[in-house]
Amino acid sequence: MTRTILSVVGARPNFMKIAPILQHIHQTPGLRSYLVHTGQHYDDRLSRQFFHDLEIPEADINLEVGSGGHGAQTGEVMKRLEPVLQQIEPDLVLVVGDVNSTLAAAVVAAKLHIPVAHVEAGLRSFDRRMPEEINRVVTDVLSSLLFVSEPVGVTHLTHEGIPTDRIFLVGDVMIDSVTRALPRALKAGASIRGQLSDDPYAILTLHRPSNVDDPAQLERIVGQLETLAGPLQLLFPVHPRTELRLRSLGLYDRLAAHPSIRMLPPLGYLEFLGLLANARLVLTDSGGIQSEAAYLKVPCLTLRDTTERPETVTIGANRLLGTDPTAIGPAVRDVLASREPPPVPPALMDGFAAQRIVAILNTWLEAQRP
Ligand code: UD1
Repeated sequence: MTRTILSVVGARPNFMKIAPILQHIHQTPGLRSYLVHTGQHYDDRLSRQFFHDLEIPEADINLEVGSGGHGAQTGEVMKRLEPVLQQIEPDLVLVVGDVNSTLAAAVVAAKLHIPVAHVEAGLRSFDRRMPEEINRVVTDVLSSLLFVSEPVGVTHLTHEGIPTDRIFLVGDVMIDSVTRALPRALKAGASIRGQLSDDPYAILTLHRPSNVDDPAQLERIVGQLETLAGPLQLLFPVHPRTELRLRSLGLYDRLAAHPSIRMLPPLGYLEFLGLLANARLVLTDSGGIQSEAAYLKVPCLTLRDTTERPETVTIGANRLLGTDPTAIGPAVRDVLASREPPPVPPALMDGFAAQRIVAILNTWLEAQRP
């Protein structure tokens, strides 16, 4: 008997998580995959390019929800996904990460009594001002199977009263994508590096509402970046949300005019990974990049007060700078001056998380047979 796993993705950070899982589902006899793209991210640079780079098969359906406020976007996914679930009648709905599409899919599936599996369960920043934190907590409470990427996630879930027989520590599925794509990524990154001088470079990514939606905060960050001149080039692939804010404040052109700063469009998965792998450091407010940098042994400075990935900090691969941008300069200088060897990545960043997840899903679905 064939079992159908319906996976729901919507935004850029979902794609590198689902790719290796879909590959293993396709290789497992008795499992059928149905892929829903909510359309939360719709730009080719944030979506189609990632499907291409990560060799994700075309989605079976795109709900085309687009952008909107949290309520509107989440509600639109719920409204459009419900009839799809009623029609396909999957045996399980699989969601990854913590974006609005993740939450919306978990709520709709749970109310239709379809079991939910959540990949990257148990991550917590304990900061409820982050929309992602709310998405994580609600998704986890509704999930029948919770796949955890680092040990502390198991502790969080058990403290929240999730029965332990639902929790599986499987490792970081994003790193599966990194290990698979790295040779191609290094080639893709080399073509951009060819356009740079031979000086070391840092990568900057910035898109958290807490950093980019407050004009004063964004202006302070830009002011600090401008003081980072010197031999370190700064590559800044700009998220559309951030570009909008920078342009409306007249800051985009100011940064672009700086001799050491290279403004870039949002990069594809391979280009970004290839550049990250050879960067001297990365300055970011992203979640996933903290883990990717730890695996690639690239020092990471995180422009946030909290992280849901504390293991990267405890091993010494990542430093939380907080949101005061004056911390950037001294931290960058510390990294450049350091002679410490990079920390060894956590053992569960081994490239086999997806294999474990699909094996567990398969066994669990087998056990549900009437
Ligand atoms: C979303 C996720 C965030 C993730 C990020 C990665 C939520 C709550 N947030 O944030 O966790 O880290 O994706 O990128 O789910 N836009 C475009 N093109 C697109 C999509 C968006 O230009 O394809 C612009 C629109 O102006 C939109 C804005 O970006 O209003 C924000 O998009 P949205 O999907 O709401 O959130 P992100 O900031 O991308």
